[in-house]
Amino acid sequence: MELYGQALLEFFNGDAEATLFVCREDGVRERLPLNSAFRGSTDWAIDRVALAKCCGRVLDIGAGTGLHSLHLQERGLSVCAIDVSSQACDIMRRRGVCEVHCADVACFDAEPFDTALILGRTIGMVEDLSGLDRFLKRLHNLVNDGGQVLLNSLDVRCTENPVHLAYQAATREAGRYVGEVKWRFEYKEQRGPMLTWLYVDPETLIRHGQEHSWCVEILQQEDDGNYLARLTKEKEPQPADGGGLRRSSANRSNHGRCRPRNGVEMRITHTQTPVPRTGSFFDVLPLW
Ligand SMILES: C[S@@+](CC[C@H](N)C(=O)[O-])C[C@H]1O[C@@H](n2cnc3c(N)ncnc32)[C@H](O)[C@@H]1O
Repeated sequence: MELYGQALLEFFNGDAEATLFVCREDGVRERLPLNSAFRGSTDWAIDRVALAKCCGRVLDIGAGTGLHSLHLQERGLSVCAIDVSSQACDIMRRRGVCEVHCADVACFDAEPFDTALILGRTIGMVEDLSGLDRFLKRLHNLVNDGGQVLLNSLDVRCTENPVHLAYQAATREAGRYVGEVKWRFEYKEQRGPMLTWLYVDPETLIRHGQEHSWCVEILQQEDDGNYLARLTKEKEPQPADGGGLRRSSANRSNHGRCRPRNGVEMRITHTQTPVPRTGSFFDVLPLW
């Protein structure tokens, strides 16, 4: 994240030429448009839907340049913004975010929040499905009983690009989950370490969420695989007969309709069919 923070800060300080590249392990290389990190907080539909759902005291995890925190602050909400990058935290403070903590969410402790906001596909920081499990468990400490987690990620399988499909086939072949993507940053002759970033598809998120007592609703899906999910704490005890992944919708609270898909109940609210994409950091590479 060091090179990302450096590029972000230099861009913020006025270096409009600052150019950060992301290089995937298969050699695909793409420029990361730094101005996306400074987009309007409601430019992207998923951000808009997520912000509208925020309530109470909010923890903005991986807050970046603070765009969402600033929006919520202006709405009068109490926001705590955390980011592991010291440069991102510097930018947030200079832009007026009131409460900023430079911290890795894996070891951040605070009183539980009403809403945890994880936008810009920041959930990728968990790296792989085991990391997702650890994080889903840990989130119970950060969110209070009536609280919610709003996060967005990407179903990388929603592509017809043969280069990406070949990469996905190789990922599976290597025994990894298809959404585990390995890449590094390159900035001004410097190469960062290889990172693993997780893109989790909705069904997998629902399954892992349920295993950790989260009720997962998909609030918005876009046709490029980008989606927004809301996690709330399961209130019912697990049924004695094994519970597992499939549960009767009659047992569930009624935020929306559940429909079985690949053996997993998906709860779709707002839209039943994907809507056209409205924004992401990359056009070609499914990164960030
Ligand atoms: C893709 S950016 C998204 C920023 C912002 N949420 C947005 O939507 O524009 C991911 C951010 O998460 C931060 N980050 C990555 N890993 C983190 C961790 N373990 N704890 C806290 N922040 C983290 C990065 O420094 C970066 O600012």
